[in-house]
Amino acid sequence: MIDQRLLPGREVFRVFHDHHGVARAISHMIIRGAPAIGVAAAMGVVLGLKGTHGSRALRRFAAVARELKATRPTAVNLSWALARMERALQAGLDLPPRELFERLRDEALTIQREDIAANRALGRFGAQLVGDPSVVLTHCNAGALATAGYGTALGVIRAAREAGKKVSVIADETRPFFQGSRLTAWELRKDRIPVTVIADSMAGLVLARGGADCVIVGTDRVAANGDVANKIGTYPLAVLARRHDIPFYVAAPLSSIDFSCPTGDYIPIEERASDELVVIDGQRVAPAGVKARNFAFDVTPADLITAIITERGIIRPPLVRGLASLKSALTKRKAET
Ligand code: MRU
Repeated sequence: MIDQRLLPGREVFRVFHDHHGVARAISHMIIRGAPAIGVAAAMGVVLGLKGTHGSRALRRFAAVARELKATRPTAVNLSWALARMERALQAGLDLPPRELFERLRDEALTIQREDIAANRALGRFGAQLVGDPSVVLTHCNAGALATAGYGTALGVIRAAREAGKKVSVIADETRPFFQGSRLTAWELRKDRIPVTVIADSMAGLVLARGGADCVIVGTDRVAANGDVANKIGTYPLAVLARRHDIPFYVAAPLSSIDFSCPTGDYIPIEERASDELVVIDGQRVAPAGVKARNFAFDVTPADLITAIITERGIIRPPLVRGLASLKSALTKRKAET
């Protein structure tokens, strides 16, 4: 995996040979972004179960999954991917170690492949919502780096460009990890999509001056009522968008929807080490000993969201109803197969 802590300065790829390494990579944000974390966890399971089978594999899975799941709590993609790997394991319990390894590896690669396909499909749906020309404001990084490839929020922007629309992007820098200025700007520049970075606190002025036509963000977890957890700073952006009458879209693959979570109040919010906030490039930017809180995500209430863009189509308010019909369509499809 590309080490996202070092971008945009250096493009360093890291190779992991066991699930401990993968778990550390997720905790330390070498890899980040909800769908990418899910794919990495699936691959971590493959590494962690190598050489085992039968009941030993089951016991081992419990330990491996526990370690991977403990890395980051907010993105539901992590437990979603682990649950899928567990189903693949259950189905292959009688296989000899080599064949079980291949079965699990294939499942992880399928999750990776399906994520790219989902991003492309939701990108095509979302592109219909993007004007021509238009300026899109985004927060954090919901691009190829945060997924198996292509991206969710940036997938919509990419698809709009591929459809011939003239789209440019305003990227919030996204304190404290700078996913916007370091990663989103890096990706878009590589794709020759015009991007301007602003400090998070500038969004109010930019939107008040009519500087963006819509806001598009990704998500780590969508609750059944349509509340959405995403990178800290997303909620104030949604409030601003409503104040200035600008559409606020959330790009969410099905792997980020948690139908078992009733509302945003039940979404676990990660709090990371305070040094991530008050130490920049080894330099302390607050007096030593001063308390700091570093919440990694916030929750945007459903009523501030104009639409949720999924690979199965666009869900419009009331989101709770749209999500419920999506759930029954998925359950029906599952029963048929
Ligand atoms: O802490 P991060 O960088 O993992 O947070 C990522 C985000 O908040 C993204 O917007 C979200 O995971 C969606 S990525 C397609």
